[in-house]
Amino acid sequence: MPSFKPLLVVAGVGKGGGTGAATARAFAKEGYSIALIARGADSLKSLEDELRASGVEATAFPVTSYEHVSLRSAFQAIRNRYPAQQYSLRAALYNASHWVRKPFLEITPEDIQAITETSINGGFAFAKEVISEYKNNEIDNTDGLGKRGVLIFTGATASVRGNTTTSAFAAGKFALRALSQSLAKEFGKDNIHVSHAIVDGAIVTPQGREQFNNPPIYDSQDQSLTPEGISAAYVYLAKQPRSAWTWELDLRPAHEKW
Ligand SMILES: NC(=O)c1ccc[n+]([C@@H]2O[C@H](COP(=O)([O-])OP(=O)(O)OC[C@H]3O[C@@H](n4cnc5c(N)ncnc54)[C@H](OP(=O)(O)O)[C@@H]3O)[C@@H](O)[C@H]2O)c1
Repeated sequence: MPSFKPLLVVAGVGKGGGTGAATARAFAKEGYSIALIARGADSLKSLEDELRASGVEATAFPVTSYEHVSLRSAFQAIRNRYPAQQYSLRAALYNASHWVRKPFLEITPEDIQAITETSINGGFAFAKEVISEYKNNEIDNTDGLGKRGVLIFTGATASVRGNTTTSAFAAGKFALRALSQSLAKEFGKDNIHVSHAIVDGAIVTPQGREQFNNPPIYDSQDQSLTPEGISAAYVYLAKQPRSAWTWELDLRPAHEKW
């Protein structure tokens, strides 16, 4: 058993019904304390309350944006709340995303700005904070794990394939994938495990039900992904021993046909 309390930090929890929140719940069940970063202070507070009610040490760190300065302040607050003498950051998920689905000629400078902030600036800033922290961690050799920590990025079909209305969204997601691959190469030698998950399909979330008018595929786990299914894969990544690490996962529902 490790001598520290493991801590997970998640950036991007939306309305509390998607992948970010499911990952917080899944790692909490594995004994992690939880730091939650997101823009929506209200839904962040509800998730914090829910986790605390089940006995989890969870704390919300709302940010106004995913710019470097905001994320740096959030990480300083996390370090104050979860001091290194007691807690050790061992898992991190960059799940934040800004969705733009428009033909190219309708894309505005504001769309590009939002994509850049969420997928590029935020991804870089989050990774810098997490990796700087991991560099100070002892290698955890419990069960032959051999790692200082795992850093996971949530991707999408658009991480590897652009399409008619995804030029902006795909550009951001491609960038995150490139970042994660480069980090996996650069920091593997430090026993820091970096992973990227291509989520190739629709994730069933409350905001998706609202936005896409409750599509029938949401009622079938053969045709759409549950946040719980994805978070189980993230727990699996965290538990992978150093001799057989996955950089990239490709997650899709059983009846995928696109
Ligand atoms: N939903 C899908 O069908 C789908 C498919 C493939 C890949 N993905 C990717 O999977 C990750 C997780 O997505 P998720 O759908 O499961 O949701 P989630 O975990 O609840 O995360 C939602 C993320 O989207 C942001 N966001 C932007 N617009 C939003 C809105 N209108 N309502 C709520 N949140 C909004 C949130 O920011 P704050 O937390 O800062 O508020 C948060 O970063 C994202 O990186 C996404 O690109 C999603």
